[in-house]
Amino acid sequence: MKSIILNNGIELPMVGFGTYKATAKEGIEAVSTAISNGYRLIDTAAKYVNEEAVGKGIKASGVPREDIFITTKLWRENLGYRSTKIEFEKSLKRLKIDYLDLYLIHWPANAKNYDNWQKTNADTWRAMEELQAEGKIRSIGVSNFFQEHLEALFQTARVIPAINQIEFHPGYWQKDLVAFCKSQNIVVQAWSPLARGKVFGNETLQAIAKKHNKSVAQVCLRWIIQHEVIAIPKSTSPERIKENINLFDFDLTKTEMEQINKLPEMGFSGELPDIWPGRL
Ligand SMILES: NC(=O)c1ccc[n+]([C@@H]2O[C@H](COP(=O)([O-])OP(=O)(O)OC[C@H]3O[C@@H](n4cnc5c(N)ncnc54)[C@H](OP(=O)(O)O)[C@@H]3O)[C@@H](O)[C@H]2O)c1
Repeated sequence: MKSIILNNGIELPMVGFGTYKATAKEGIEAVSTAISNGYRLIDTAAKYVNEEAVGKGIKASGVPREDIFITTKLWRENLGYRSTKIEFEKSLKRLKIDYLDLYLIHWPANAKNYDNWQKTNADTWRAMEELQAEGKIRSIGVSNFFQEHLEALFQTARVIPAINQIEFHPGYWQKDLVAFCKSQNIVVQAWSPLARGKVFGNETLQAIAKKHNKSVAQVCLRWIIQHEVIAIPKSTSPERIKENINLFDFDLTKTEMEQINKLPEMGFSGELPDIWPGRL
């Protein structure tokens, strides 16, 4: 497994396991199967209502907790200094762990929802910095932050976010934002790396997949990691869980990377940090 080093020196794998919509028994089994098949980075969120299942899946795998990199996220309706501390403890309890590897602000406060969105994000971040300083979280980061949200955060932040987790897949990959994050030493993580299947019918992707004797899903994921971006595909099928991590026996050529880069917009979720609640 290829890995990447965060701006605080912590190493994490280039492929992780997404768990959105993997809940209850299905979630427990999916997480345990993923870990048995080599995944070591598990992504959940308070909003997914599956932290308990994820914690149980990790335990069921038999792999020691300290060998797993666990991410969870603070939901956007719970931003703010006090609320962050409270919600963090609830997540820890549901996961049944005593420290977290990565805590993310799931969505930034925006002008539509907050009189002073900059202060709300800054207060939230200060609480996360404190939790990290207390040794309760190893790395802190953000999700769905545009450049403007990051720049506002930099005004008061003592810790630069280690990660920005954003929508990134063929057909919607936020090139300028990724370049900005890289310039600030922030690692990008790709959510919906398969665009929830919405790009599988694309002929260019299909032709590249055929040439390498791989699936379109594997081509999407390989393209992401060749961009030095971490992919966190979700699946509850044991076959697809295996397929999505079997990415290290082929390379996309420079021409193929360019072909995928240039695909027209497709598969976009419609979710934007500036317009929630609501979507395009
Ligand atoms: N930070 C955020 O705001 C945010 C937003 C969205 C998602 N996320 C995170 O990112 C993770 C991944 O994103 P996502 O779940 O939205 O979408 P995704 O990983 O792009 O796609 C998941 C969908 O594709 C199917 N699938 C998976 N592997 C496949 C394969 N090899 N071939 C065919 N179909 C396949 C899955 O079905 P099966 O389960 O039936 O295989 C599921 O329906 C989430 O689970 C979550 O952890 C974060």
